[in-house]
Amino acid sequence: MSEESGKKKFRSAAWFGRTDKDGFIHRSWMRNQGWPSHVFDGRPVIGICNTWSELNPCNAHLRTIAERVKIGVWEAGGFPLEFPVMSMGETNMRPTAMLFRNLASMDVEESIRANPIDGVVLLCGCDKTTPALIMGAASCDLPAIVVSGGAMLNGKFQGRDIGSGTDVWRFSEAVKGGTMSLQQFMEAESCMSRSGGHCMTMGTASTMANMVEALGLGLPQNAAIPAVDSRRLTLAHEAGRRIVAMVHEDLRLSRILTREAFENAIRANGAVGGSTNAVIHLLAIAGRIGVRLSLEEWDRLGREVPTIVDLMPSGRFLMEDYFYAGGLPAVLRALGEKGLLHKDTLTVNGKTIWENCENADNWNSEVIRGFDRPLVEHGGIAVLRGNLAPDGAVLKPSAASAHLMKHRARAVVFENIEHYQERINDPSLDVDETCVLVLKNCGPKGYPGMAEVGNMGLPPKVLSKGVTDMVRISDARMSGTAYGTVVLHTCPEAAVGGPLAVVQDGDMIELDVEARRLHLDVSDQELQARLANWRAPETGIRGGYQELYVKHVMQANTGADLDFLVGCRGSEVTRESH
Ligand code: FES
Repeated sequence: MSEESGKKKFRSAAWFGRTDKDGFIHRSWMRNQGWPSHVFDGRPVIGICNTWSELNPCNAHLRTIAERVKIGVWEAGGFPLEFPVMSMGETNMRPTAMLFRNLASMDVEESIRANPIDGVVLLCGCDKTTPALIMGAASCDLPAIVVSGGAMLNGKFQGRDIGSGTDVWRFSEAVKGGTMSLQQFMEAESCMSRSGGHCMTMGTASTMANMVEALGLGLPQNAAIPAVDSRRLTLAHEAGRRIVAMVHEDLRLSRILTREAFENAIRANGAVGGSTNAVIHLLAIAGRIGVRLSLEEWDRLGREVPTIVDLMPSGRFLMEDYFYAGGLPAVLRALGEKGLLHKDTLTVNGKTIWENCENADNWNSEVIRGFDRPLVEHGGIAVLRGNLAPDGAVLKPSAASAHLMKHRARAVVFENIEHYQERINDPSLDVDETCVLVLKNCGPKGYPGMAEVGNMGLPPKVLSKGVTDMVRISDARMSGTAYGTVVLHTCPEAAVGGPLAVVQDGDMIELDVEARRLHLDVSDQELQARLANWRAPETGIRGGYQELYVKHVMQANTGADLDFLVGCRGSEVTRESH
């Protein structure tokens, strides 16, 4: 932005604000859409970055949202231009949507920088779409505002509420354990997904929508308004108006995404019982904007925060209930009153986070419980260390079983996901409920893409006893809708020769969440001897993006970004097109 002529010149003026051949070309081709001359008069050009896709059901309503954003942009004197980017639907993409988060972030970054855009509205919803859009936008550092798509309405089945994901795991275990018929299982499908929107549990999509609001990147109530509530359209309309003002104010992402904003988000994640996936995504976003954030900070900051939101998978309720109870502003107010919020962090509406939430009401203390009666005393994310995870591993205490938080037992080892699938249903598998299930080669490089298989299902012979949880350890991730005493993101991962790679059937493993310890009970000498003999497994990758990904992906403890994408490269374009 420059002010040479007395009138602010925005970035897009380098395309549309010139009288030479290039200006002709930039405007002329745009005119084939019927735009009149006055839209090129130097007003802010607002990109609407849309992850709409019919292959991504959670984001399939985002065209409607985009139309409302456009109305707001026009109203405020901007020129809205919608553009598509890669969309990752969690339920359909193989081998795992996470493989493509970084690819989509490149699409976003390059689409923003290459085009005549002064500010951008990011439309996202399903798990990976939110971090991908923020990562890409952060690497450009233009004014940006996020509009999340909102969650589906509560699932309803057999007279009770059911939650996306969370009840799928329950139902599928119930079918295996013989307490639910296949017909009932099939009936539950349409009862679970009753409207547009993303998963309505506190899964990764809802968690990331909360993170958007806690970071200051979305308007108040961005996290919780249901996808089909008319107030979601109002929020989109207002976001359109606001982004134009943000361009005038030069309110860039780097002014919002400060260290304090990340600290607020980490604490908010603890309070809402958010997904472990938020750890990886926030580390990656911080890396893009240049904030030094470490895995340890998740433990340090989150440890003192009780989980006060009673939503599945940790608790009982769903996102619709959360919105009616007051949503994130009520949670942020509670954090602020406890001294657990940096109150002065700036948000996209130009106000501080505290100004946005200091008068927020809590209308239902069953859903948003007070600090005096939390759902889980110590929420947040536990970061474990030990000879099995020298660079860390994570566990979500609010989703784990109290009786397994300190546990020493024999390992039952699966070399990869296929090995697990072959063996888990075998009645002769030597396993009981006291064992620790260990799954290898499901990390960023190993899978590749770090699949959400860390909450691997229990063996049928254990389930049939009515047992619902066992300690499980892997280098994989876990769906935010899942639950259990599950150690995830073990670093370094098995595929790069981390100690996880050399765990053997029968080894004793100690988990002590309180002491943050994850220990393989073999001597240092034995461990070193095993590691010296370890050979990397074949990847089977035959070129393409996967090859680039596996060469460059970093470990989970730093956000699993591609090494060459870390950092903010700004919005400057070095060469013109013609
Ligand atoms: Fe899209 Fe859960 S599958 S949000």
